[in-house]
Amino acid sequence: MSVTTLPKVELHLHIEGAAPPSFIRGLAAEKKIDISGIFNERGEYKYTDFWHFLEIYEAATSTLQSPEDFRRLTRAVLAESAASGVVYTEAFLSPDFCGGRDVGAWREYLAAMIEAADEAERQDGITMRGIVTCIRHFGPEKAKETAICAAETAGDWLTGFGIGGDERAGELSDFSWAFDCAREAGLRLTAHAGEWTGPESVREAVDVLHCERIGHGVRAIEDLALVDRLAEDGIVLEVCPGSNVVLGVYPDWRSHPIEKLRARGVKVTVSTDDPPFFHTSMEREFQMLHDTFDWDEGVFDEITRTSLDAAFCDGETRSRIEKRLERRP
Ligand code: ADE
Ligand code: ZN
Repeated sequence: MSVTTLPKVELHLHIEGAAPPSFIRGLAAEKKIDISGIFNERGEYKYTDFWHFLEIYEAATSTLQSPEDFRRLTRAVLAESAASGVVYTEAFLSPDFCGGRDVGAWREYLAAMIEAADEAERQDGITMRGIVTCIRHFGPEKAKETAICAAETAGDWLTGFGIGGDERAGELSDFSWAFDCAREAGLRLTAHAGEWTGPESVREAVDVLHCERIGHGVRAIEDLALVDRLAEDGIVLEVCPGSNVVLGVYPDWRSHPIEKLRARGVKVTVSTDDPPFFHTSMEREFQMLHDTFDWDEGVFDEITRTSLDAAFCDGETRSRIEKRLERRP
């Protein structure tokens, strides 16, 4: 089978983390910012571990300084995703990096990203929706301002709220105010958990923050009672196997628990997280899953169906994408 032609639905993609290194180098040159130290001799992002990755990520993001920069970034990212067969994508957007959590500035950045998404839909046939994310290691006070940006712009396009960053910073419960604010504005919820912290963090994301999806969540596998509960409650995991392997959550693809979670009835989906940082794409994730676990077209269809069901878009958009999946070659 060829994974290339399979239509794909991605739920977990950080817009800044999807920036090709060449795109960031171009912006740095335009603005005369010296960030040459974040690249290796092949021009790829260079980092030693997850915490260093977060630093390099933020250094790369420092070149993104205007709505126009984010418009260009969004257009470039969606072109890459569409080339990998993605027909629908949800991206994490950070008001922290888009005007410093000022609601007025955030509206301008958001409008620029929506303009790029509309163009990509017309030209590349890919649909995008946005999820505002707060950054855990920036702390709960900044997260409140981020949630207000999200609540003020909640709607058909900006459909979710989440949290990323250093999972070991503070407690998830410190972010309850931000998540309550977002939920009350009608936003759907997801949180990074069970990547760098254990199963208890996944429980907290569900029980305390009321998340219906979990970013990663893979370390739930360390507690089978939790795995069964996730399956029973239909909690969806946004699994990013390539990210987990490159960052060292698991030593190799064979050790990754995605197949065990799926076999035990958990709703798993597949995403790239920050593709150029992890030398991946949706096509490569699918290929590696096929090579490692022998996933065939039937399994990929099931994964894509699960992803679309769990998407935070409205029903009309979901039906449109569904028809697109049915029409495939
Ligand atoms: N931000 C970007 N990528 C991330 C990841 N894998 N975990 C937490 N925060 C992130
Ligand atoms: Zn992530």
